[in-house]
Amino acid sequence: MQDTAFLETKSFEKTIADWIYSKDALFEEGHRFDHIDRVVQLARKIAIAEQADLKIVIPAAYLHDCFPVSKKDPRRKQASTLSAQCAKEFLEDIAYPKEYIDPIMHAIAAHSYSSGIKAQTLEAKVVQDADRLDALGAIGIARVFALGGQFNSSLYHPKDPFCREGKYQDDCYILDHFYTKLLKIKDMLHTKEAQKIGAVRHQQMLTFIKELGENIIGQ
Ligand SMILES: [Fe+2]
Ligand SMILES: [Fe+2]
Repeated sequence: MQDTAFLETKSFEKTIADWIYSKDALFEEGHRFDHIDRVVQLARKIAIAEQADLKIVIPAAYLHDCFPVSKKDPRRKQASTLSAQCAKEFLEDIAYPKEYIDPIMHAIAAHSYSSGIKAQTLEAKVVQDADRLDALGAIGIARVFALGGQFNSSLYHPKDPFCREGKYQDDCYILDHFYTKLLKIKDMLHTKEAQKIGAVRHQQMLTFIKELGENIIGQ
């Protein structure tokens, strides 16, 4: 059976989407359903282009952040492993076919930077690429400043916005996060389709930074 037909016939996709949406109030900004929905759409697009298995990619994309861990929680580094375990329990409850559960768990566990787990399968690479792409471009810019608000960071160093003299401090100045992380992501993407999308979004961020610089110096 075609992957999409399988997900629809059994209405698995709707069940999974409804479940994660029903838990939305438990999550902090950055891991709420708007992020999940964008990652699913990106993952679907990349998976189709790369011929990855949607029966693994789609559940993993919906459930990749399903265990709520706050940004200040000491278990933050284990968040993706905790999400993988939580997804397994849920998928078993809805009788999702057993043979996909381990590969889904791997894709979830490997998606995050901080887990230190390498993405071993095409499906895990697709989910990781989709999650990373959501940190880039116009949406990435919106998300990074929302994150700065959560941490009560300043927008930028008032005397050295683009860090020409000092060292990047993205815990104090959120603009520095473009340099410490976001502008490096395009070179970390695995799949060709994600690299195409990433190149466009990278350029959007460079344009934003250039225009921000012009605003800051009063043009
Ligand atoms: Fe995550
Ligand atoms: Fe995510």
